[in-house]
Amino acid sequence: MSQLPNLITSPPWWQLINWIIDPLGFQDRYSRKYGDIFTMHLGGLGPYVLVSNPQAIQEIFSQDFKFDAGRGNELGEPLVGKNSLMLMDGDRHRRERKLLMPPFHGERLQTYAKQICLITAQFASQWQIGQPFVARTAMQKISLEMILQIVFGLSAGERYEQLKPLLTDWIDMTDSPLRSSLLFLKFLQQDWGTWSPWGRMKQRQRQVHRLLQAEIEERRAKGNEARTDVLSLMMAARDENGEAMTDDELRDELLTILFAGHETTATTLAWALYQIHQQPEVREKLLKELDSLGESSPPMEIAQLPYLTAVCQETLRMYPVLPVIFPRIAKSPVQIAGQWFDAETTFMPTNYLVHYREDIYPNARQFKPERFLERQYSASEYFPFGGGSRRCLGYALAQLEMKLVLATILFKYQLALVEQKPVKLQRRGFTLAPTGGVRMVMTGRR
Ligand code: HEM
Repeated sequence: MSQLPNLITSPPWWQLINWIIDPLGFQDRYSRKYGDIFTMHLGGLGPYVLVSNPQAIQEIFSQDFKFDAGRGNELGEPLVGKNSLMLMDGDRHRRERKLLMPPFHGERLQTYAKQICLITAQFASQWQIGQPFVARTAMQKISLEMILQIVFGLSAGERYEQLKPLLTDWIDMTDSPLRSSLLFLKFLQQDWGTWSPWGRMKQRQRQVHRLLQAEIEERRAKGNEARTDVLSLMMAARDENGEAMTDDELRDELLTILFAGHETTATTLAWALYQIHQQPEVREKLLKELDSLGESSPPMEIAQLPYLTAVCQETLRMYPVLPVIFPRIAKSPVQIAGQWFDAETTFMPTNYLVHYREDIYPNARQFKPERFLERQYSASEYFPFGGGSRRCLGYALAQLEMKLVLATILFKYQLALVEQKPVKLQRRGFTLAPTGGVRMVMTGRR
């Protein structure tokens, strides 16, 4: 048996509580004490080796066939279902990714770009001058609408009207550190009907499943040919044996995309708005760049603007939506950073600690988009979307969404922060979000 490096000595139940409440403070504390590689033991969940050394992370990403990640994500099963890409490994994961990839890349994205701008403009037009709003909530409304229209292919009708509040309600059930513990502490996962939190969560899930099943059946009956939404493309996709995805797979993948894609993008957008409006020089530079192109330019041209791109990259560097990327479980003994580890050792590469390394990002606590214009970072120095064969399925769509939502808002509106005091990160389900959601106000139209 090989020794796990730098084992944290406090009791596992205490480590778990601290991990749930403040996963970033936890990482700061122990990386100061132990350095680049250390082992935490979360009560009931087991030991994890946290890695913030780019060389070691590069070794993990480049040998990803030696690791499973899906079975390390089992905590997500109650939300996304057991047929989710996130929970798959090996050949099944490879097959599913091949089926799901095309709608999120290349030419397909161009089809969605206009929709992104239209949805943003429609939602932002409801803001009133002088009336404060919470940026994260506003961004979540926009990103949910995008998932409903672009992925589910729903924009009106009874099913859309039912699904929208139901999904919001379901997602908001883990919107604070306390309510998030439901996802981590299995003994709380008891379905005692609607008066127990887990029972209410399960009830919402059953309702959502019924609505999605009905939608899939209706599409099969009516035919999908003329449609461009992701669900239609998923239904038409075939693997190398000519097999289509089953209804259960389609349903679980829709929910996977919903959970993986909508809060993450909304939260990152809220942070971007926060930084852009906290630093007048960032906003001025962005507006200058946007105005040089003009509001009516093709969305794909707007998305290529260098400073806008750098603002989004810097936001993703500073504000991780996940406290670590997916755990990687060694399938056989493996050598990482010159040390041998047993089979079943679970590694957690941490983008948070790497993104704050002073040797890679000088003055790392400062929001400085220029650093992305001045140099290029390798895939193990900068990985907000993870890496290797598990890299975020929606990374291209997420970045396109971020840039076009920001551009559409900045072209049209003058916004300001309601309070100038610094905003901290707080746990929200499996993700991290700004405490209070960033309160903003519209001060005028441009
Ligand atoms: C700013 C927005 C987003 C961020 C920061 C983000 C980040 C991540 C990260 C860190 C991972 C884990 C990768 C790894 O462990 O190597 C991941 C996986 C994933 N993301 Fe995203 N994501 C975002 C948006 C999206 C969107 C818009 C979608 C869907 C359209 C999406 C779908 C997925 C899926 C399906 C996986 C699992 C991939 C697999 O297991 O093979 N994400 N994401």
